Amino acid sequence: MDVVKKRRSIRKYKPDRVPKAEIEYVLEAARLAPSWANRQCWRYIVVTDEATRKRITMTEWAAKAPVVIVACGDPSKAGNRDGKPYYMLDMGISMEHLVLAASEHGLGTCWLGGQFDEKTVREALGVPESHRIVAMTPLGYPDESPPAKERKPLPELATWEKW
Ligand SMILES: Cc1cc2nc3c(=O)[nH]c(=O)nc-3n(C[C@H](O)[C@H](O)[C@H](O)COP(=O)(O)O)c2cc1C
Repeated sequence: MDVVKKRRSIRKYKPDRVPKAEIEYVLEAARLAPSWANRQCWRYIVVTDEATRKRITMTEWAAKAPVVIVACGDPSKAGNRDGKPYYMLDMGISMEHLVLAASEHGLGTCWLGGQFDEKTVREALGVPESHRIVAMTPLGYPDESPPAKERKPLPELATWEKW
């Protein structure tokens, strides 16, 4: 709960290098996530090269982080029940594990769903057609401390026994 409350989306990063052990720490958290029939549809690409970071991100602030982690998912490795593609859910769980582990270690992240072009990223990183690029996040030491954003009060999102 401490880390859940502390995490923020970070959109300003220090240029300081992130040690490899720290990158492996957050990837380990992603690896341990639960998934549909334990199929582990995920594949992560760690991008540190500056030119590639600029190419795959659509905003200057995201490219400024020393690391960008790209989350790819294989839709064929998860269920698709009643029109609900569960690979997206698996990816969300795994990625959020990564995000929370980063926050625990004082590293900033920001989920990017809308701010990248899948085709550009696919070409830049050589992602095969078998995988969708679901999200990415910059990773680095925060250079801002944004306040918590408001959330709906609990009674608006949870009820007991019935809708
Ligand atoms: C699936 C998903 C996609 C997101 N895509 C973007 C994005 O493209 N650009 C961005 O700046 N923030 C993005 N965000 C971050 C949200 O805007 C942010 O989580 C929300 O405003 C709440 O703020 P907080 O994370 O600081 O609590 C995304 C978050 C999620 C969960």
